[in-house]
Amino acid sequence: MADNQATLTIGDTSYDLPVMKGSEGPDVVDIRKLYGISDHFTFDPGFTSTASCESALTFIDGDKGVLLHRGYSIEELSEKSSFMEVSYLLLNGELPDEKQLKDFSYTISRHTMLHEQLATFYRGFRRDAHPMAIMCGVVGALSAFYHDSTDISDPNHRMISSHRLIAKMPTIAAMAYKYSVGQPFIYPDNSLSYTGNFLRMTFGVPAEPYVVNPVIERALDRIFILHADHEQNASTSTVAGAGSLGTYPFAVISAGFACLWGPAHVGATGAALNMLREIGTPDRIPHYIERAKDKNDPFRLMGFGHRVYKNYDPRATVMQKTVREVLSELKVNDPIFDVALQLEEMALNDPYFIEKKLFPNVDFYSGIILSAIGFPTEMFTVLFALSRTVGWVAQWNEMISDPGQKIGRPRQLYTGPSLRPYPSIAQR
Ligand code: ACO
Repeated sequence: MADNQATLTIGDTSYDLPVMKGSEGPDVVDIRKLYGISDHFTFDPGFTSTASCESALTFIDGDKGVLLHRGYSIEELSEKSSFMEVSYLLLNGELPDEKQLKDFSYTISRHTMLHEQLATFYRGFRRDAHPMAIMCGVVGALSAFYHDSTDISDPNHRMISSHRLIAKMPTIAAMAYKYSVGQPFIYPDNSLSYTGNFLRMTFGVPAEPYVVNPVIERALDRIFILHADHEQNASTSTVAGAGSLGTYPFAVISAGFACLWGPAHVGATGAALNMLREIGTPDRIPHYIERAKDKNDPFRLMGFGHRVYKNYDPRATVMQKTVREVLSELKVNDPIFDVALQLEEMALNDPYFIEKKLFPNVDFYSGIILSAIGFPTEMFTVLFALSRTVGWVAQWNEMISDPGQKIGRPRQLYTGPSLRPYPSIAQR
């Protein structure tokens, strides 16, 4: 709603623009009519000053290190809720009561199996294919199998598709892993929790029973919660862009996968882990800190810095605690955890990092946990995409239900040649 007005003056003419207020965060200047009234566009290539939608799902205050889902802090959610509860919250707006949670978990568990034909898709890939390449293909291919839930104007169809996507993602991801290691696919076991089932499908084998370790199950569930949604980040905006044209839900989510695969997105987890391994021992940390500060060296501390968080990424705090739990449960004495802790401490006391507001992000510690659990680096992004699926579908549902929703179609500042005569081939 417009509570205020902004005035923009271009040359001799002033334009009044409404200012809209949200429940939290900066007000926004509503420029939707600017082009019509002034014949000007605005220019903001990285969308650093542009709100692309109204949303009631997730709020981030990057300066204060705050992340809220539907008003609840990420610290409290990751401590007290399960991933299923957070998924329900994101999709429906409120935390579920006991019965709602039971019903929701049951509904999700009913959709965990994949159409058997989809298993043959995997065999079309090379064994050394990156699992994200497989995920992009298989998730997109779901559109060819579930025709009964693709009418996006029907809220019921949208909800069924959303449930299918959330439910099938662990199965698809575990199969991508199994294919890469040459082991048989493991079918879902709906008596297990969402995360326990995923662990079994990933690490279980048909030859022996798989017992889910509750500490690892809880740790991974927490990692899923930490990645469930993150406001209008690049992959969510990609999903919104694709979804704004009425594209089928499964194809829309596969666009999210393609975007999330980028090394500048969550790909930094593997890079942070590799960096910690390369540093190896605490005595080598100062050398790497110096390299990170050197303008002539392209090296950056991976897992440090964030486009939005300029204080502390609250997810990194939860992650640091989770590393301790996992390493102690698995009795892993990984020296790189010490390297990580000392690197964090040294960097946070270094004027370069203080001045530039560079703090550990969620990726800094997550690689240590995931590798201790047994996931290869290539699977890290898959795990984040699996959990982000709930955020993508929740944001997509919110967007489609918005009566004011428009096709996502930015404009540009054209810098090419103006109209010129076409030369014949002999004249070129
Ligand atoms: N190490 C050393 N210096 C850094 C780092 C870093 N990790 N990150 C930023 N800087 C410096 C830059 O050199 C730049 O310095 P300058 O102003 O003197 O040129 C300044 O800090 C600002 O950096 P930008 O890249 O402009 O900041 P931006 O907000 O665009 O980038 C980003 C954020 C991409 C995350 C960056 O901090 C980075 O590359 N970090 C390492 C990779 C990483 O951890 N990515 C994970 C992101 S979190 C996620 O995807 C869930």
